[in-house]
Amino acid sequence: MNKVTMFSTYEKLSKYVANIVEEQLKENRISRFILPTGSTPLGLYKELVNRELDWSAVMTYNLDVYIMNPSHSQSYQTFMKENLFDKINIYPSNCKFPDRNVQSYEQRLKGIPVDLCILGIGTNGHIAFNEPGSSFKSRTRVVDLTEQTLQDNSKYFDSVEDVPKQAITMGLRTIMESKKIELMANGVNKLNILNVAMNGEVTESVPASILQNHDNVEVFYCD
Ligand code: PGA
Repeated sequence: MNKVTMFSTYEKLSKYVANIVEEQLKENRISRFILPTGSTPLGLYKELVNRELDWSAVMTYNLDVYIMNPSHSQSYQTFMKENLFDKINIYPSNCKFPDRNVQSYEQRLKGIPVDLCILGIGTNGHIAFNEPGSSFKSRTRVVDLTEQTLQDNSKYFDSVEDVPKQAITMGLRTIMESKKIELMANGVNKLNILNVAMNGEVTESVPASILQNHDNVEVFYCD
C-alpha cells in the first residue's frame, strides 16, 4: 500500500506515534494538539502516560463529541479524562471539546495553527465524525451519524439504540489546517478503507481521502 507505514504489532505502532508526540512536546512545550477517541488511540495514550512528559503548557482540542451528557461513562469527555487527562499534568481548562458554540471552537483553532493532529479512521472512511459525503470545506458542526458508525460504535453501549445519533465534529477543512497529521489504523477491518482512502480517488464519498492533499501527513497501520 502506498504512503502507509505498516507495523507488526499494535504496541509498536502506539510507541512510534508516542515518539512523534514526545518529539513535538520537546521541541515546543506550548504545543497544540488535536486528539482522537475510540479504541485505536488507547495504546498511544497508555504509552504517553507512562512517559511522564510535561503537558503543563499544552492545549488540546478533541476531534468530536457525541451529543450526550458529558459526564456519561461513554462520553468522549469521560474517555479523555480516564485515558489521558487525569493521568498527566495538563490543565483541565486547556483541554477543549467541541460544543454547540461551533464558531467559538473554530475561532480557538484558527488563532494559532495546531502543531499535530492525530486521527483514527472509521470503517466507512470517516475522520472525526465527518461521514461520507461531508464537504471538504466543512468546519465544526452538528452531524447525524450514519448507520454504519452507530453499528461500529455500539460495542461501547448496551445496544445500538443507546448510541447517540448526533455528534459535534471538527470539519474536514478544520482538520486540514493542522501543520502535521498522523493517521492511525488498527485491525484488518480498516485495511480496505485505508487503501481506498490513501490510494484511490480523492472524493467526498471517502472523507479520509482528503488527506492525500495534505503535504505533511503520515499513515500507520497494523492488523
Ligand atoms: P476506533 O474508531 O478507533 O474505535 O476504531 C475510529 C474512528 O471511528 O475514527
